[in-house]
Amino acid sequence: MRWFFFILFYTILCIDIDEPINLGSGISLPSLEQRDKSEGLQEFTPIKSTIGQSETQFFSFNVNTSSGVGEYYEFLIFLTGNICSQPSNVDANDTSLAVYYSFNSSMFQNFELAQMELFHNGYFQALADVPITSTENQNTVLYIAVRAPQNVDITSTWMYEIGVSQNDLVFQWDDRSWATLVDTDEDSALIVTGNLTSDGDYENVNVSNSRFSLYIYSDEYRHYFDSLNSSWCAIRNGPVLLDPSKLESSFTTRSGGLQQQFHVTGLNSSTRYIAYLVSDFAGKDFGGAVYQPFEFETMDKDACDLIYDLEFCNKVAYAVPNNPSLTKEELRTMYDDRAQALFQNFSKALQQIPCNASQDSVFSPIRTCDDCALSYKNWLCAVTIPRCSTRNITGYVSRDVGNNRNSWIDDNIQPYQEYYEVLPCFNVCEAIVRDCPADFNFVCPKHNDSIKLSYYWGVDGEFPTCNFVGDSFDVTSTAVKLVVNSLLALVVLVHLI
Ligand SMILES: *[C@@H]1O[C@H](CO)[C@@H](O)[C@H](O)[C@H]1NC(C)=O
Ligand SMILES: *[C@@H]1O[C@H](CO)[C@@H](O)[C@H](O)[C@H]1NC(C)=O
Ligand SMILES: *[C@@H]1O[C@H](CO)[C@@H](O)[C@H](O)[C@H]1NC(C)=O
Ligand SMILES: *[C@@H]1O[C@H](CO)[C@@H](O)[C@H](O)[C@H]1NC(C)=O
Ligand SMILES: *[C@@H]1O[C@H](CO)[C@@H](O)[C@H](O)[C@H]1NC(C)=O
Ligand SMILES: *[C@@H]1O[C@H](CO)[C@@H](O)[C@H](O)[C@H]1NC(C)=O
Ligand SMILES: *[C@@H]1O[C@H](CO)[C@@H](O)[C@H](O)[C@H]1NC(C)=O
Ligand SMILES: *[C@@H]1O[C@H](CO)[C@@H](O)[C@H](O)[C@H]1NC(C)=O
Ligand SMILES: *[C@@H]1O[C@H](CO)[C@@H](O)[C@H](O)[C@H]1NC(C)=O
Ligand SMILES: *[C@@H]1O[C@H](CO)[C@@H](O)[C@H](O)[C@H]1NC(C)=O
Ligand SMILES: *[C@@H]1O[C@H](CO)[C@@H](O)[C@H](O)[C@H]1NC(C)=O
Repeated sequence: MRWFFFILFYTILCIDIDEPINLGSGISLPSLEQRDKSEGLQEFTPIKSTIGQSETQFFSFNVNTSSGVGEYYEFLIFLTGNICSQPSNVDANDTSLAVYYSFNSSMFQNFELAQMELFHNGYFQALADVPITSTENQNTVLYIAVRAPQNVDITSTWMYEIGVSQNDLVFQWDDRSWATLVDTDEDSALIVTGNLTSDGDYENVNVSNSRFSLYIYSDEYRHYFDSLNSSWCAIRNGPVLLDPSKLESSFTTRSGGLQQQFHVTGLNSSTRYIAYLVSDFAGKDFGGAVYQPFEFETMDKDACDLIYDLEFCNKVAYAVPNNPSLTKEELRTMYDDRAQALFQNFSKALQQIPCNASQDSVFSPIRTCDDCALSYKNWLCAVTIPRCSTRNITGYVSRDVGNNRNSWIDDNIQPYQEYYEVLPCFNVCEAIVRDCPADFNFVCPKHNDSIKLSYYWGVDGEFPTCNFVGDSFDVTSTAVKLVVNSLLALVVLVHLI
């Protein structure tokens, strides 16, 4: 994880983007003057370029021998690149752009002297190890050439970016889906990132400074990025349906840690969309990372409305039974006020009772009044504010008009369409039994038959099998994987020790 955050919150600001040394098509070689040009690539400042089929372009990077990773024994140079767009007739298996690099300028005459890496999935990375002998030489230069393959269409071009740094990878990708869907209704969706910080310092966060942004693509582009899916540049420059400027974004601490949430509105019903989360290291010009995308589907009718950021039931963020005469704001307030009113009486009762759990409690010896109040609140929110779906999934309970979970909903919300209720998770009930004094006599249903009347649990699938309201419920515990290949991972471990 440390490497991950090291990547994400790291930036180096350099300006002055120089043009690449473009020699046109053919295998023409750079003149001595061009080769010795000291400009070219600057630290952590990618260059964007367009290259034609069979063309070769040249770059150089002046190594700064007084900075960077590995100062004490050798210098390491991180080379990364992204393909932003490629000819439409290129298949996933076709040879992509090739990058040659060497500290010996003779490589421009003979590419066999250079090391070579190909772009894969629109991404290229390499690690150049500066020869120890050259550290005394103040003018160590890394020479780079990018070569495009042949293409039957002689007018075809690739657009790419290449970035060099002595400190970090300018472009990155992550095969984790760092964003997840919270819920949808028929025309909107709520998506959150993973935990952004672990230190609890949420005071000075400002969402307009966030590195993360979300791109929503129509499902018809599901295969559009198949051969460019690891390219930050391609995702940012593709035929996006809703770009970040159209999404409402804020921070939330609903699940314990700090997360960024994106409210996507104006969607069509019963429609699938693809969400790509990207991270810009410093705006659009200094590289970034792309995460694995995920698909989601909107509900098929407006029986449910997605509500979140409730004041009292602050863990609630899901679709609820609605009535079209109520705005989302009114709906949210009505449910929230109802739960809060019900909580008042419990709160009074709690004050009359010694709340510490007995020492022989099987779960934990120390349970306080606060634990009990919190577990009760979560349970109360889950049962007062039913989770609504328009899908008939095993375990969901069908609710006809006038036949809701309780009469308060029948009388006050008055849902006007049939919907399915996602029942609260069983562990929401277990938590109160565990955390509250025995004097309250809370019991959860014991037999499977009675559990099914009010709670449901089941296996993981595309849709939740039960509604969890509370802290850190590990629905899926996926292992964290590193982005980098083993060579780079090794370097980073050395660096952090
Ligand atoms: C080399 O790196 C050092 C330390 O980061 C910096 O102070 C210096 O300005 C750099 N030199 C050049 C030529 O960029
Ligand atoms: C790519 O190559 C693999 C293995 O050689 C093959 O199974 C796959 O069908 C090829 N894909 C395309 C798009 O040609
Ligand atoms: C560069 O490569 C050429 C050809 O292999 C070699 O003769 C020359 O010594 C090399 N230069 C350096 C500085 O290593
Ligand atoms: C957040 O940052 C933006 C631009 O940097 C600024 O206009 C805004 O006032 C900031 N908001 C807060 C709450 O600090
Ligand atoms: C996020 O942070 C909270 C609070 O530190 C923690 O309880 C939760 O498990 C974390 N979630 C993940 C997915 O790491
Ligand atoms: C909704 O559907 C209409 C008609 O098919 C289409 O023009 C529009 O782009 C779609 N909008 C979204 C956000 O999917
Ligand atoms: C791109 O697709 C390849 C397989 O085709 C997969 O291994 C890789 O994780 C994907 N990259 C991202 C960022 O999702
Ligand atoms: C709270 O308790 C009082 C007295 O028992 C009762 O009249 C009132 O209806 C209760 N409030 C709610 C919201 O249940
Ligand atoms: C709860 O238990 C702790 C430790 O046993 C004790 O110090 C504290 O006074 C108890 N509090 C109440 C309200 O009984
Ligand atoms: C929901 O699905 C179940 C099982 O497939 C079926 O028995 C039931 O009739 C369906 N309910 C509705 C309202 O279609
Ligand atoms: C209740 O259902 C669960 C899950 O299907 C099963 O593991 C358990 O054995 C059942 N318990 C009883 C008493 O039937």
